[in-house]
Order: sequence, then structure tokens, then C-alpha cells
Amino acid sequence: KKTVRDIDVAGKRVLVRVDFNVPLDASQHITDDTRIVAALPTIKYLLDNGASVILMSHLGRPKGQVVDTMRLTPVAARLSTLLQQPVATSSDAIGLEAEEKAQALKPGQVLLLENLRFHKEEEKNDPEFARQLASLGDIYVNDAFGTAHRAHASTEGVTHYLPGVSGFLVEKEINFLGSALENPRRPFAAIVGGAKVSDKIAVLERLITMADSILIGGGMANTFLKAQGFEVGDSLFEEAKVDEAKSLIAQAQQLGKKFILPPDVVIADRFAADAEHKVVPAQQVPQGWRILDIGPATIETFRQALAESQTIVWNGTLGVAEMPAFAKGTNAVIEILVERSQQGATTIIGGGDSAAAVEQAGAASKMTHVSTGGGASLEFMEGRVLPGVAALQDA
Ligand code: 3PG
Repeated sequence: KKTVRDIDVAGKRVLVRVDFNVPLDASQHITDDTRIVAALPTIKYLLDNGASVILMSHLGRPKGQVVDTMRLTPVAARLSTLLQQPVATSSDAIGLEAEEKAQALKPGQVLLLENLRFHKEEEKNDPEFARQLASLGDIYVNDAFGTAHRAHASTEGVTHYLPGVSGFLVEKEINFLGSALENPRRPFAAIVGGAKVSDKIAVLERLITMADSILIGGGMANTFLKAQGFEVGDSLFEEAKVDEAKSLIAQAQQLGKKFILPPDVVIADRFAADAEHKVVPAQQVPQGWRILDIGPATIETFRQALAESQTIVWNGTLGVAEMPAFAKGTNAVIEILVERSQQGATTIIGGGDSAAAVEQAGAASKMTHVSTGGGASLEFMEGRVLPGVAALQDA
């Protein structure tokens, strides 16, 4: 795809879709600004090259209503601090105020439009809404990798009215995730966790064909344990996916791949941060107890399985990472990946919960790449076309 490098931006008004969908706490403080920081290279490049920049993003899921707690005001403030320059705002993404403020921008100045999803037309990919957004700029840049799997007015619709190119973040994400999967240095290991098998079936099917070993943890492991004939006590598992889990294990075996399930687990007497808990073999989960993390033997098994790997892709936490008592598996895997990175392996974190855990552990800079996409990186890893990328001009 063409990138901002391939076009002349001097003196142009550049409309940039970014993913500033960042987590906010109850008092509207940004708790993780990774996505804002990740968009800075493109924004700075445009400003340094004489463009004026009109940024647009969604935040949360306001479903077409104006929701005050989902305004982009805190994001504008953080962006202004990071850029060390004022960031103008508009109280609506379209309309007179947005048009006048966009027109008034001088080269080197930045405007952030209000939350796109205050209009239901955004998610509906309404052509008229897309046209109104497009009218604010001369060129369109998509740097919202986290939203590239959505065919919305600001990611797809707008490209029917303005030529679109990718920003540096989209370029980087596609390069890292793409080369890790398609042209990995081997052995190639994939670690897959998260709550549900149903969310990960497509990615598991693809990883089974591409990776040399697949390591399973998180709530979804329960369905695989069940598929192996083990009892999982009161653990959550997906009854309807047990057969599919069986056939995934069989597929992996047929292809000669290592498919590693947790040999031991941490079980708790209830789903709570202060629950009573203990470690048991995965075959011995009693009634009344539920699996909330992988155990120490599993961590050792994972460590050995990853010791030779030259490419490691990880998606999905391995336990209930937001509860310290059940975050040990996730944190141990982060440590293993940091170590493997230092030894020269390529480590790719596929967004969402696992990326947040890496961020929280302060380990992001030690990985080869931490994706800013949750759903987007998952869909990309599944081999699906991302509409927001497909709509951009070819190089
Ligand atoms: C994300 O956080 O994954 C993206 O910003 C997309 O958000 P959405 O799932 O609400 O479309």
C-alpha cells in the first residue's frame, strides 16, 4: 500500500483516521496512552512536512448517541502534551464548526474532531456522512490499525471521496504481523490464550498450519481439557465447542505439530481476587473449583517449548490477569518472552489483553512488536482482509 511517504503533503489539509480508543478511568483519566503514542510518528511527519492535520477517532461504543463520558477532550489534552503544541478541538465530527476549524488550520497545526461514533452513520458506513468527513481534507491517511477490521465511514467510506494512503503505524503493524506469520524464522511457536475457544477457532486453524508448536492457556484451555476427557469442575468451558477442540488437536497431530495443553492449573473456590486457591494437575480439578490460571509445571513446559523458538506470537492472557493471584502465568510468559527477545528471537504480541498485560508489566519496549490492535490483529492473524487497509491505494 502507498504510505504518507509516497505523496506530497506540503500545504495540504490531511484527514487522518487514528485509533484513540484508549481506556479511561472513572474520572476520565487515560490509563494507557499507547495508542496515542503509537500515532505520533505519522502526525509529526505530516506536521514537519508542512501539512495541517485533521484527526478523527472513535472512543468506546456510544452507539450513535452523544455520551459525555466518551468525549475526546482528555485525548486532545494528552496529545497536546505529547506533541508539545496546541491541539484544537471541534464539538462535532461534521458540520459548520468542524468545517470552519478545518479551513482555518495553517500548516503545522492540528485539529481533533469529536468522537465519530456520536453519529450512528459512522458504523453504518453511511456515504453522506463519509462525504462530509472527506470534505474536511484534501488527502486521507488511515493510521488506525486497531479499527482497520471495521468497514466504517471513517475507515472505508471516506476512501470513495478522497485518495487514501496508510500511516506509519498501519504500515508497521502489517509488516510485523505479516512477516511473523508468513515468513517466520523457525521454530515458530504460537501461544494462544483468552477466555473463549469460539473467539480463537479461526486463528488456531491458521496457526496450526503455520506454526511448529501451539501452546494453549487461559479460559479456552478448559474446553481443550474437556475435549481430552478431563473434568474441569466448575470452570467455564464451551460445551458446544468440545468437538471442534477435539478436531483441532487431531489436526495438529496429523500435521506433526506440537499442541501443548497445561499439565497443571491454579484452581479457586470462586471467581474472586481473594478466593482460596491451589495448584493441581489438570486431570484433577474437583467439583466446586474453577481453573483461573496455568500452574508452575505449565510455565516450565512453556519455557522449554519456547527455548529454541526463533519466532513467538502471543495472543490472549493465560489466566485472569486482572487479579494478581491469577496473573502469574501471564506474567511468567511475559518474562520468558523478554528473555527470548534478549536472546534474539522475534516476539510479537497480538494486541488486546495480552498487549495490555505487557504494557502493565513495563515490558513493551523489550518485545519485537506489540500490536495496538485487538480485534484487528486477531482478524489479520486469521488471514482475513482488513477493509480499512484494503481501501487504501496500492503502491
Ligand atoms: C478496539 O479497541 O479494538 C478498536 O478500537 C475497535 O473498537 P470496536 O471493537 O468498538 O470497533
